[in-house]
Amino acid sequence: MLRGIISDREKGLPVSTIGRMLKIAAEGRGIISLGPGEPDFVSPQNVLRAAREALAKKMTRYSPVAGRWDFKQAVIRKLKKENGIEAGEENIIVTCGSTEAIMLALIATIDPGEGVMVPDPGFLSYTPTVEVLNGMPISIPLEEEKGFQPDVDMMEKLIVPEKTRVLIMNTPSNPTGTVFSRKVLEEIAGFAVEHGLLVLSDEAYEKFVYKDAKHISIGSLNGMEKHVMTLHSFSKTYAMPGFRLGYACGPENVIGAMTKLHVFSSLCAPTVSQVAGIEALRGPQGAVERMRKEYDRRRRMIVKRVCEVPGWSCMEPEGAFYAFPNVTSMGMKSLDVSEWLLREAKVATIPGTEFGRMGEGFIRLSYATAYEKIEKAMDRIEKAVRKKAGR
Ligand SMILES: Cc1ncc(COP(=O)(O)O)c(C=O)c1O
Repeated sequence: MLRGIISDREKGLPVSTIGRMLKIAAEGRGIISLGPGEPDFVSPQNVLRAAREALAKKMTRYSPVAGRWDFKQAVIRKLKKENGIEAGEENIIVTCGSTEAIMLALIATIDPGEGVMVPDPGFLSYTPTVEVLNGMPISIPLEEEKGFQPDVDMMEKLIVPEKTRVLIMNTPSNPTGTVFSRKVLEEIAGFAVEHGLLVLSDEAYEKFVYKDAKHISIGSLNGMEKHVMTLHSFSKTYAMPGFRLGYACGPENVIGAMTKLHVFSSLCAPTVSQVAGIEALRGPQGAVERMRKEYDRRRRMIVKRVCEVPGWSCMEPEGAFYAFPNVTSMGMKSLDVSEWLLREAKVATIPGTEFGRMGEGFIRLSYATAYEKIEKAMDRIEKAVRKKAGR
């Protein structure tokens, strides 16, 4: 083993408990996993067919660095029609999922010591990505009492003026399932303009909204085109996580910088994935709506069942595919609750603290798994907690 070979930067990264929990869940016999944030559906048939046809035509070469022309045209049309965002080719880069887009956007904009405002709890790659670039993550606490919506007055108090460059937001949100209201988005827009920030708007779950909730892209608000980088992914919407496909739409100078960097990260998004992605965007959208309806059915059941567990409560999620119950009544840290559930109920969950300090007291339950499995998992959880509580 080569000693001293691992960089301090890497050593500084948090060790994710998700990996450990998911490994136990995968190896452990009889464990039901409500852990992964990955659709349990297969990509739509028309998308798979397009990928097969692309391979049959031997489309195995690199694509242009910023993405194929025909893919970008499909994206431009989609953004205009569905998100109310006007874009040209120069505003778009195609990436290997939105994970790569987040990384490229932050490398392109953050110098060491500069601030990035990050939702807490929030998707677990945001803070480590800022840290690996020697940036300064500034947590935006999302509180249950406020429906996990960001509070702009609090953001005013937390921002480090002059040193903060970027604000990351994610609606519909992982892990809370919150969908930001138009009012909140307008306040965030005003805040970003006042402080000269670039908003990274992660909209990976844009299609999965329920009840009366509506997804609004902050990039569609008046005058925001200079301030917003909209990030979209195929992983959730079209159940295509293994295709590693996403795109960013934003100001030309930032997209240009990201394109320059792309040469040194992955060079380009996979050609086959882009061809499949064109079919996903242009073809029939029935599969997306079918998945949304099924997630909604599971959502209603899981929230009802969680609220029947003694002492637990859960804000009703309006988007994404997660429930984020408050489990403080268990009298244990979130991590211990998750480990206890794994042991006593044989159900894998993710501790809220994986998503930031503000996640303490919560666990994340993914309902991207079969209805019957969720029912069974909830039977087990309820039984174990009742036994512990003597009820
Ligand atoms: C909020 C959010 N953004 C981005 C991603 C990553 O998506 P992709 O597969 O496009 O990299 C995830 C995946 O779980 C997510 O939850």
